[in-house]
Amino acid sequence: MSDECHLCLLGLIFLSSLLTGTSGVDDAYVFISSGEDVRLLCNNALHDCTSTMWLYNRFRYSATVELIALGLKKTDTERHERLSLGPDCSLNIKNIAKEDYGYYSCRQYVNDKQQGTDTHVDLHVLHVSSSSSSSSQTEISAGRSVTLSCQLYSFAEVSCGDWICSERIELFWVNQAGVKLTRSDSRYQILSSSDHCIITLNTTLLNEDHNREWRCNVTQRDQVKSSVTYTVKSSGEKTSSSISYGRVC
Ligand SMILES: *[C@@H]1O[C@H](CO)[C@@H](O)[C@H](O)[C@H]1NC(C)=O
Ligand SMILES: *[C@@H]1O[C@H](CO)[C@@H](O)[C@H](O)[C@H]1NC(C)=O
Repeated sequence: MSDECHLCLLGLIFLSSLLTGTSGVDDAYVFISSGEDVRLLCNNALHDCTSTMWLYNRFRYSATVELIALGLKKTDTERHERLSLGPDCSLNIKNIAKEDYGYYSCRQYVNDKQQGTDTHVDLHVLHVSSSSSSSSQTEISAGRSVTLSCQLYSFAEVSCGDWICSERIELFWVNQAGVKLTRSDSRYQILSSSDHCIITLNTTLLNEDHNREWRCNVTQRDQVKSSVTYTVKSSGEKTSSSISYGRVC
């Protein structure tokens, strides 16, 4: 690469999730990419939402946080501005953060008595970070190496690794042609953390990488659940913020 070639590249991150978990069936697992919005269904709701409580646990034995109490949003939680209760008593969370992963329960109370059994949603958040995103401007130049870390944040009763194996969850990187990248690709270093919950792609950027996409997919039993796309752009084309979040579908 010649020195005259000062092509600056921008890394753009796009997200897409297949919200099969919110379709209303008793699928307790919901996968979502950070930055997206999600709707968690309450399957035991009564005629209106004044009996509805939404409870949250980040870990198995962490304190339970009340997000919604008797149909009213609690305003003392740090993320209450991103939460709302849908007309069907579902819990809407806007602009998902990686810290939103965890175990959500919908419970009904009438006259101080719990009604029926709770319904639960186990929310898993897929998040990609790049080595060059330490500053808000993600300008990356050809010749530099970039490291993209794709992590699944999960509430797991056991360690993330045991859970990932038992549920047949897999994280992997795919190139633009849709081919799964493996350790044997000479251009890439693909590393999986020992618990399989983080997969890292490391490569040196080339000028030809302009507009190139790498995608991190999470699958469960070979079905794609969510994915994040990282796109390399020339900075001349986009002058606004360098990491942009948007839905692909
Ligand atoms: C990525 O690859 C480059 C070049 O091989 C290397 O210098 C760098 O240390 C690697 N980074 C990580 C985090 O593995
Ligand atoms: C990765 O996810 C995308 C988007 O959902 C999908 O179109 C593609 O087929 C998936 N690729 C693989 C190898 O699973």
